[in-house]
Amino acid sequence: MYKKYIRPQLFKKDTEEAHDCALRWLKRAERVTVLTSFLRGLCSIEHRRLKQRLFGITFPNPIGTAAGMDKNADAMIGFEALGFGFLEIGGVTQLIQGGNAKPRVFRLVEDEAIINRMGFNNIGADALAEKLSRRSHEQIPLIPLGINLGKSKLTPIEDIEAVANDYRHSFTALSEYGDFFTINVSSPNTPNLRDLQNVSLLKQILETLSYVNHRVKPLLIKVAPDLADDDLKALVELISKYGHGIIATNTTVGRPETLRSPYAAEGGGLSGKPLKERSTKVVALIHKENPTLPIVGVGGIFSGADAWEKIQAGASLIQIYTGLVYEGPALPRNINLHLQDVLIKADLQMSTLHPRVNRD
Ligand SMILES: Cc1cc2nc3c(=O)[nH]c(=O)nc-3n(C[C@H](O)[C@H](O)[C@H](O)COP(=O)(O)O)c2cc1C
Repeated sequence: MYKKYIRPQLFKKDTEEAHDCALRWLKRAERVTVLTSFLRGLCSIEHRRLKQRLFGITFPNPIGTAAGMDKNADAMIGFEALGFGFLEIGGVTQLIQGGNAKPRVFRLVEDEAIINRMGFNNIGADALAEKLSRRSHEQIPLIPLGINLGKSKLTPIEDIEAVANDYRHSFTALSEYGDFFTINVSSPNTPNLRDLQNVSLLKQILETLSYVNHRVKPLLIKVAPDLADDDLKALVELISKYGHGIIATNTTVGRPETLRSPYAAEGGGLSGKPLKERSTKVVALIHKENPTLPIVGVGGIFSGADAWEKIQAGASLIQIYTGLVYEGPALPRNINLHLQDVLIKADLQMSTLHPRVNRD
């Protein structure tokens, strides 16, 4: 139904416009309680084998929205009703930002991919905190909520104290609203942001955050797929000491030769099918380095089989963005059904798939 009727209409629109349109639909659905209840009944899959507890948080199922999907928390209840087991809003920065000039998102239909160079367009951490504080009880999702933190473009990357304080400001403003926080040092669309994956720089950011993390909210670090293996290993060691988990991966600046779309040479980060293999490799490498470090696997997940591949590589949770654009709103439900099936057949459960040391 989505691929036959809705997708062709959405794909006639500019990519960002289509996204905004889908968000508006979800937001509208959110206002009609019978509709969200209906959607929830249709899409939510509850099964004890899908449930797990990680870093003190209970996840009803392992599928989350990836950062960038609902940057300013406009449609959280709508996404929850689609059957997701957790959400990640943001990326948000200390300062309000307009992002890069449009067009800045491109659909590579032939490759089932997207290239984006949004540049952290967002309403700013204080405004987001204000917005979340005004939500009534019914407007707050019951599933875990992650908040993705980026660095403001105006904060000079060379001044690591200022950079750490930029993340600290956003974290402090939003601390009471998120169940976990993602420290995004891997977006390719803020100049040199990815340099912050350097171990000594990231250590300073995480130490600064530790001084204000009084409620001990889990901190997950999101990494790029383009890191050299040795750099990744050094990061895993640091994150094992200072963080609670790792999200792998963000979009890639790489452009596989196999890309066929005329948009393939656009600048920005590539996501979707061409990213799948590399992001799974990164998940596997992290898991090999430290099997007890919780991993959120993201990149090119379009089906239940793709999700299971990431989980088998070492991910405890997975996230989707581009897959939702191409496969439509039934994707979380279909992935959950597939996972449920695989877990029952193999007599496994998400909560015991990977080692649990230090996870609660
Ligand atoms: C339009 C767009 C905006 C994104 N914005 C963010 C962001 O603000 N912060 C972030 O950490 N990742 C962001 N991402 C990356 C995704 O969260 C995800 O890591 C990446 O797209 C790979 O997953 P996918 O292949 O399922 O899309 C964005 C991706 C897209 C396509």
